[in-house]
Amino acid sequence: MAKKLVLAYSGGLDTSVAVHWMREQWGVEVICVALNVGQSDMLEPDVLKSRAAAAGAIDCVIIDARDEMAEEFCNYAIWANAKYEGKYPLVSALSRPVIVRHLVAQARAFGADAVAHGCTGKGNDQVRFEVGTHALAPDLEVLAPVRVWGMTREDSVEYAEKHGIPIAASKTKIYSIDENLWGRAIECGDIEDPWAAPPEEPYTLTKVSATAPVELTISFEQGLPVAVDGQRLSLAALIAELNQRIGPTGFGRLDMVENRRVGIKSREVYECPGALAIINAHSDLEDLCLERDVHHEKARLETRWAELIYDGMWFSPLKEALDAFFIETQRHVTGDVRVRAEAPGVLRVVGRRSATALYDYGLATYDAADTFRHQDSEGFVRIWGLGISTWAHRQGAKNGTARS
Ligand code: ARG
Repeated sequence: MAKKLVLAYSGGLDTSVAVHWMREQWGVEVICVALNVGQSDMLEPDVLKSRAAAAGAIDCVIIDARDEMAEEFCNYAIWANAKYEGKYPLVSALSRPVIVRHLVAQARAFGADAVAHGCTGKGNDQVRFEVGTHALAPDLEVLAPVRVWGMTREDSVEYAEKHGIPIAASKTKIYSIDENLWGRAIECGDIEDPWAAPPEEPYTLTKVSATAPVELTISFEQGLPVAVDGQRLSLAALIAELNQRIGPTGFGRLDMVENRRVGIKSREVYECPGALAIINAHSDLEDLCLERDVHHEKARLETRWAELIYDGMWFSPLKEALDAFFIETQRHVTGDVRVRAEAPGVLRVVGRRSATALYDYGLATYDAADTFRHQDSEGFVRIWGLGISTWAHRQGAKNGTARS
């Protein structure tokens, strides 16, 4: 059994109770690690530290990982236009490997022999924590107290009260919300009935308040967004800016029944205005800049990439190999994309341009500027269809019906 462990800590009810419970039940020393990945409910450092100490942690490390998440995790998701099951931009699935990387680093720094997380046994996040940790540090044990303690939320609140663990939680909590700079994932409560329309209440980023259409230009360099309306921003700041400007139009909500890795179908809702605007704009720019075969092959591999990340395989050889392919495709994905939100919840790309576009006006136009050699098409089309016309003639001969 582990002697010293590093816990992914939020300062909420479950992870605070976990600190005390693991100490009490397993006799381990606990170091809390709290990451800021852009969640709006990130607690202040002094609150985190005092809660961790009150629960019995020997230390509490706080790390601002927002730029790291944007520049080393969201960037790959943008290159891959990553949407699990064609919809979900992997919000939670992208933050878990960031957290794992820091847990492992802190385990090494403190000489710990295990890491722990506060996930239940029903979700994907346990998979991401455990597979990720074992990819980076196969020698570390991974412990999941919530999966084994068998306490309800009420029991946990009582446990916290009994042991003087300060928490700001009620015995009933309606929604389970996971947030980071890439968006918000909302589950539980009424949402668990797939027939019930999603309640307005848990949304924060996409409450409609815009009164006029919103139009803006996103500039990309080698497949990554670098500026909004000409203003250069770090990737983390750019995502936040888009959330702020596009969210109030109501764009970015998803309502889906998804397939979890553990075999459960679950109904979840998401709001990711910035992430979805970036992916839409990026993939539109690729329409303009990617050669046809590369483009088609990339589309096939994007689906696979999103599945891998969803399934907790961030640190895996296939993911790295796919990244190498995507990075190669992005060399000329540089240009501007104009997006416009006119009606609530709808964002459209209305223009795109690129100095490296493969769109050629002379080839595309039907007017006098036409440079296309029409006469070449005759032979091309005949040879393209040669196999089919040969087949058709033979069929006709066999059936005794002449084909022309
Ligand atoms: N279903 C999503 C995923 O697996 C979101 C999970 C979010 N977790 C939560 N506690 N709300 O990535």
